[in-house]
Amino acid sequence: MASLALIVAAGRGERLGSEGPKALVELGGRSLLRWSVDLMLAVEEIDRIVVALPPGVSAPAGTTGVQGGAARSESVARALQASGPGDPGDLVVVHDAARPLASAELVRAALGALARNSDLDAAITAAPVTDTIKRAEPPAGAARAGGAHPQAGSEADQQARGEADPQAPGVAGVVVETLDRSALWAVQTPQVFRRGILERALDVPGEVLAQATDDAWLVERLGGRVAIVPAGGENLKITTPLDLSLAELLVASA
Ligand code: CTP
Ligand code: MG
Repeated sequence: MASLALIVAAGRGERLGSEGPKALVELGGRSLLRWSVDLMLAVEEIDRIVVALPPGVSAPAGTTGVQGGAARSESVARALQASGPGDPGDLVVVHDAARPLASAELVRAALGALARNSDLDAAITAAPVTDTIKRAEPPAGAARAGGAHPQAGSEADQQARGEADPQAPGVAGVVVETLDRSALWAVQTPQVFRRGILERALDVPGEVLAQATDDAWLVERLGGRVAIVPAGGENLKITTPLDLSLAELLVASA
């Protein structure tokens, strides 16, 4: 059984606001992309690494590069295609370059969970939710579509904060329910899949790929069995400048 790693690094990093692509932003003297490549090189079980890259960035030594797609899961699909043919039983590790601090132990734990449990289609890493999570709807009169979170700093965000909503000044939403935190997990990467089901899950129209915030959801849509492998909060995702500052502190204190 071969194991393949796909690193998705093709995002623009808009929320980080860096000058170049987020994958080239440095953390502790190494680019985010380099952190993830080094991580996968440290996992003996992995025999091949494919990286989805932003335009103009070349593949690091020891990896195969492919240009990423418009959405994250499209980049995953392109990387999987670029890996060439494989066996449906092969294991595929999908990892975001935006999570440079994932450990080799965590990758091995997810690979091991699939290798040991033949009834599983995927094993995804996740941390228990520690915040209380509530579901809210926009206040009456707000024009924002329900469901989606506003992007910080956007007009929709100002509106959600009540700044442009005369009916509820200073109010972002009204609580509909409080979720049972004990059953909730904040999902991370690495996520490990059996190749056969991942290929089928990714073989969907671009609109569906664009809707996916992780690849496990695409497998869930097919009725796949997805297991959770517990992870810690130190595998943080670099989304905003605050995340990068936190990661710098973690790296400096390690
Ligand atoms: N990604 C990708 N291809 C895309 C979009 C995202 O390969 N079309 C990758 C990113 O490079 C990142 C991971 O998916 O490693 C998670 O995405 P995210 O953290 O959202 O990164 P960006 O899309 O770069 O950031 P932003 O959404 O703020 O622009
Ligand atoms: Mg993104």
